[in-house]
Amino acid sequence: MTDQRDKLCVALDGSDRDWIASTARTLAPQVGWLKLGLEAFTAFGPELVIEIAELDTRVFFDIKLHDIPNTVRRAAANCAATGAAMFNVHASGGRAMLSAAIEGAAEGSAAHPPKVLAVTVLTSLDHGALTELGFDHDPNELVVRWARLAHEVGLDGVVASAREAPAIRRECGPDFLIVTPGIRPGWSATGDQRRVMTPSDAIAAGADILVIGRPITGAKFPDKAVTRVIEELG
Ligand code: C5P
Repeated sequence: MTDQRDKLCVALDGSDRDWIASTARTLAPQVGWLKLGLEAFTAFGPELVIEIAELDTRVFFDIKLHDIPNTVRRAAANCAATGAAMFNVHASGGRAMLSAAIEGAAEGSAAHPPKVLAVTVLTSLDHGALTELGFDHDPNELVVRWARLAHEVGLDGVVASAREAPAIRRECGPDFLIVTPGIRPGWSATGDQRRVMTPSDAIAAGADILVIGRPITGAKFPDKAVTRVIEELG
């Protein structure tokens, strides 16, 4: 990916349909990806995903599927049929579920199957939170372990913290996509994200696509915030 726009994915989190649609139309020419997640999906359903996927950009459908393999395969086919270019599942669903997600993606869009990513460890979880859940591992070890599994099964990449990107790159090679939320330009607030990195540091660490939400969508002029991030990437 040489175009800086392809490295940028703006998260359109919100429950205001008009705001999502108009922000999508404004930002579509500027960024390679727009992300629709659970908040928008549970409010407006696949119709909104289909509408945004028709714009001149690509949709990352951040639906984070996690269920038994048969259900995930069918849901993955539905995700693919929306026209989204990428969607994700939780790596913790295990090997059979990951494999079913790939099958479903091909069933739902034989001509252009979307990329399938695995969510490793949510960037809002630190070591203490993981221990409380029974995963008494360093987050870095857990991320690499789950990324290795996703790579083995044939997924296109992972969602992970940029801090884990170098280890994932070493383990999974140059063609495995590393998509990183928890990105904060120096001029923005950290909010509830715990393991954050600036856009240029994340790219230097090996990230392929940066997911940025509130620093852009919460700015007075989101298009100017995008320009600022792209300029910072150099
Ligand atoms: O507003 P902010 O930049 O924090 O948005 C980050 C986006 O990335 C949110 O949509 C969030 O759901 C998503 N995300 C995340 N951590 C993950 C996976 C996705 O923060 N591991």
